[in-house]
Amino acid sequence: MLVPPGATLADFPIAAFQSALLHWFKDNKRALPWREEPRAPYHVWLAETMLQQTQVGTVIPYYERWLQRFPTLESLADAPLDDVLKQWEGLGYYSRARNFHQAAQYVVREYAGDIPDTVDQLLKLPGIGRYTAGAIASLAFKVDAPILDGNVSRVLSRVTALAQDFRSPASVVALWDLSARLVPSGHAGEFNEALMDLGATVCTPKAPNCAVCPLVSLCIAYAKGAPESYPVRARKAKTPHRDIATAFIRDATGCVLMAQRPVNGLLGGLWEFPGGEVALDAMGAPGTPSGAISQYADMAAQLTKIIRATTGLQLQISSDDFRGQVKHAFTHFRITRHVAIVSLTEPMPRVTPSDANINVKWVKPEEIGDLALTRSDQKILDLARAALDHPDCLL
Ligand code: ADE
Repeated sequence: MLVPPGATLADFPIAAFQSALLHWFKDNKRALPWREEPRAPYHVWLAETMLQQTQVGTVIPYYERWLQRFPTLESLADAPLDDVLKQWEGLGYYSRARNFHQAAQYVVREYAGDIPDTVDQLLKLPGIGRYTAGAIASLAFKVDAPILDGNVSRVLSRVTALAQDFRSPASVVALWDLSARLVPSGHAGEFNEALMDLGATVCTPKAPNCAVCPLVSLCIAYAKGAPESYPVRARKAKTPHRDIATAFIRDATGCVLMAQRPVNGLLGGLWEFPGGEVALDAMGAPGTPSGAISQYADMAAQLTKIIRATTGLQLQISSDDFRGQVKHAFTHFRITRHVAIVSLTEPMPRVTPSDANINVKWVKPEEIGDLALTRSDQKILDLARAALDHPDCLL
């Protein structure tokens, strides 16, 4: 073992780490579509944006479809936001797509389409933080820039047996500093990808495969006999929860009423079935024996008001209209969407939202799939299809 327990990050054996990792990477590099040489900066940027909160296996088909639809940065910059969101549909964290689109327009306008090659310039683009700037600069432009994401934090926290919560501000500073000191001059791209691959395939969160790890002789967590107890995490507060009531409203011709989310908020620009947040009183949640009846009556009254305000439709929603629930988790909160299904007897009544910023429209069933829907609205569409399971239901 090269590093005695108790060694600090400052004593870290940089050269041994670099050479062991680069040597391992030669034989163990993953073949991924965005690694094809020569590297196109646009492809690197796209991959890093998609990979920010999504696993490699999920990203690959999205990455390939995206490049068929938007083969160049210019074609992305020229595309309407709705098309961009449609290509992103299902990947989640849609601000990534909106920012990427805006940043592409900025690069075309300000840099004549040439993606900037320094970390400082990249950091000025919407959606690019320190990790993504370091990844683009090192992978696409061979700049000696470090990276730090979840995988890299885990590897570095383990080899150093970092005792504090790895997300604390002091740990983040120390880990960035170590990552920067580790970058071998002239080989940052290769080294950073080696760190990513080691974190994803060997130094995995639950069952690290230390038997094949090139860093095992340097790893203090391994020497202590408990690699999986790193990185240290302070206990997190429970994620808050919100109840949302949603109306799936069909007119007499089968058209469905859809609302567009405000462009600047969460899931901005995506389409959803209209509704909004509701307050449940203390009588128990719907779905529990004591809460079911009174909660749904109260929720129906609240949803009726919301639908009148957001669409102008003078509907009366009743507790019997609620036909199911859809749950979804975001990073900082969870939601339960309580779904009412309402069938109107007239064709497409006029919709006039009380707020000019709200966009609502009737959509033919076969055209719902052309809109970029949120993940939970896709689940609601499935729920409605099952609930309306009838020979002449067009959904
Ligand atoms: N995760 C983030 N960026 C990545 C990349 N370029 N290759 C593999 N996994 C990644």
